[in-house]
Amino acid sequence: MDKQNKRIVLVTGATGGLGTAMCKELYKDGFHVVGNYHTKEKADKWQKEMKEEGFDIQLFFGDVSNFESAGEMIKKIEAEVGPVDTLVNNAGITRDGRLLNMSKDDWNAVINTNLNSVFNCTKHVLPGMVERKFGRIINISSVNGQRGQFGQTNYSAAKAGMHGFTKSLAMEVAKLGITVNTISPGYIGTDMVMAVPEKILTQIIAQVPLGRLGGTHEVAHLVSFLASEETSFITGANYSINGGQHVY
Ligand SMILES: NC(=O)c1ccc[n+]([C@@H]2O[C@H](COP(=O)([O-])OP(=O)(O)OC[C@H]3O[C@@H](n4cnc5c(N)ncnc54)[C@H](OP(=O)(O)O)[C@@H]3O)[C@@H](O)[C@H]2O)c1
Repeated sequence: MDKQNKRIVLVTGATGGLGTAMCKELYKDGFHVVGNYHTKEKADKWQKEMKEEGFDIQLFFGDVSNFESAGEMIKKIEAEVGPVDTLVNNAGITRDGRLLNMSKDDWNAVINTNLNSVFNCTKHVLPGMVERKFGRIINISSVNGQRGQFGQTNYSAAKAGMHGFTKSLAMEVAKLGITVNTISPGYIGTDMVMAVPEKILTQIIAQVPLGRLGGTHEVAHLVSFLASEETSFITGANYSINGGQHVY
């Protein structure tokens, strides 16, 4: 906790579409939010915009695909802000292509950024959580990790792997006041998704029983819910948030 007894939440990939919404929601809900950034130019612009909107959120550099870089970032946060109570493993990338054409680099980049990052960050915050007997780890997976997706063997494997990690770690730390959960969003109206050609977007929306894309605030609300004290009996779960696109 920080000096004002606020829980400290670290959101990786904070400058992205979902990360930004998560930071805002958590901040409004009274958490002490710190964000992780990757690209400096993006971070400067983000911080300026957030300040203008009234959000005072510190950003820390870290390449979460790299174990040492993630460790240095977390060490810095704990020294300058305080212990991380909640870790939101949100940073992620796609490098789509059929396996026949997929390069080893595209495979490795996606596995390292989406899956190994979960190990790289969690490994550095977990000892402190164990010591304090409190922690919330929230892994942002995807509907495509649950059902598979053409052209996404790398992404689907990484996202499915995240939930395997969630289930196993949830068992290991259940008695220590630490919960570990996965959120699997469907198609959310981020800039990335909105940039998809209109015809394809229409086809995607047609597969969603709710008939629309999800809002970033809807995913952010679920993150804030799972970060709260009251969710202490929820662990090892995978929350689908996809408008009914994939039910099972
Ligand atoms: N949008 C959707 O519809 C959707 C659906 C399901 C799941 N998701 C998942 O939700 C998460 C957020 O997605 P988004 O739509 O918000 O994507 P986004 O806008 O592209 O944001 C991704 C964030 O991750 C950061 N990042 C990438 N590589 C990194 C690294 N090596 N180290 C640290 N940060 C890194 C990016 O920073 P830089 O740009 O500076 O590299 C960016 O801030 C991802 O894990 C994604 O797979 C999204």
